[in-house]
Amino acid sequence: MSKETWNFELRDRQQVLVIATKNKGKSAEIKSALRDFPVLIKDLNDFGPIPDPVEDGQTFEENAYKKASFTARVLGLPALADDSGLEVKVLSGAPGVRSARYSGPLATDLENNAKLLRELRGKVNRKARFCCVLSLAVPSGPALTYEASCEGVILDAPRGDKGFGYDPLFLYPPLGKTFAEMSMEQKLSVSHRGLALRELANEFEKVLQWLLKRLAEERRRQGREEMCVK
Ligand code: IMP
Repeated sequence: MSKETWNFELRDRQQVLVIATKNKGKSAEIKSALRDFPVLIKDLNDFGPIPDPVEDGQTFEENAYKKASFTARVLGLPALADDSGLEVKVLSGAPGVRSARYSGPLATDLENNAKLLRELRGKVNRKARFCCVLSLAVPSGPALTYEASCEGVILDAPRGDKGFGYDPLFLYPPLGKTFAEMSMEQKLSVSHRGLALRELANEFEKVLQWLLKRLAEERRRQGREEMCVK
C-alpha cells in the first residue's frame, strides 16, 4: 500500500500518535524522521499536565515500554516512547538508564556534562555509545519495539552548540564531529535514535496496519463492555 493510499484512508480519521516526551530535542528529531507519514504527531507539551510515569526499569527497553504504555493509557491514544542514554565503557556503562538524572533528580544538561567530565578526568579510554529503544504502544498495552546504538568517544571539553544532552561531548569519529556540531538531519543519519527511527519508518506500512487493528479491537471491546454494563 502506498503512502498516498494511507493518506486517503486516514484523511478523515487523522490518526494521532503521541510522542511520550516533554524533551523538545528528542521530540523534534522524532517528528522530523516521521514527517512524511500520514499521522498527526503530538508530544506531551501539546496536552495539559499529566503525571510522569515512574522510570524505574533496569533497561532502556523496560523504561521505553513503561513510558509508552503509561502515556497511551492516560491519553487513550497510541504513544511512541524513546528511552535512550549514554553508556561509557570505563564507567561500567554509566550513566546508562540514569543519563537524564546523572547528577541529580532535576539535573540540567550542563550539570550532567560537567559530572561526566569529572568522572572521566585522567581516563585514557573514552569509548562510549548512545543507545535508543523505541516502544510504540496502544492504550490496552501491546507494543512494538525498535532499538539501535551509535559508537563514539567522549571529548575532554564540549564542542558545538546544536542538539541536546551529551551531544557536545560525544564525538562521532567517522565524521570527526560531535553530535552538537551536526545539523539535525546529519545527526539523524548516524545516531542511535535516527537508526531506530529508520527501522520503524522502513516498516511503517506494517506498523500502521498493526496500530489500526489494535485500536479497532479496543473499540470493539469497549463497545461490548458498555453493552454489558447497560
Ligand atoms: P530519557 O528521557 O530518560 O530517555 O533520558 C535520555 C537522556 O539521555 C537525555 O536526557 C540525555 O541526557 C541523554 N541522551 C539520549 N539521547 C541523546 C542524544 O541524542 N544526544 C544527547 N544526549 C542524549
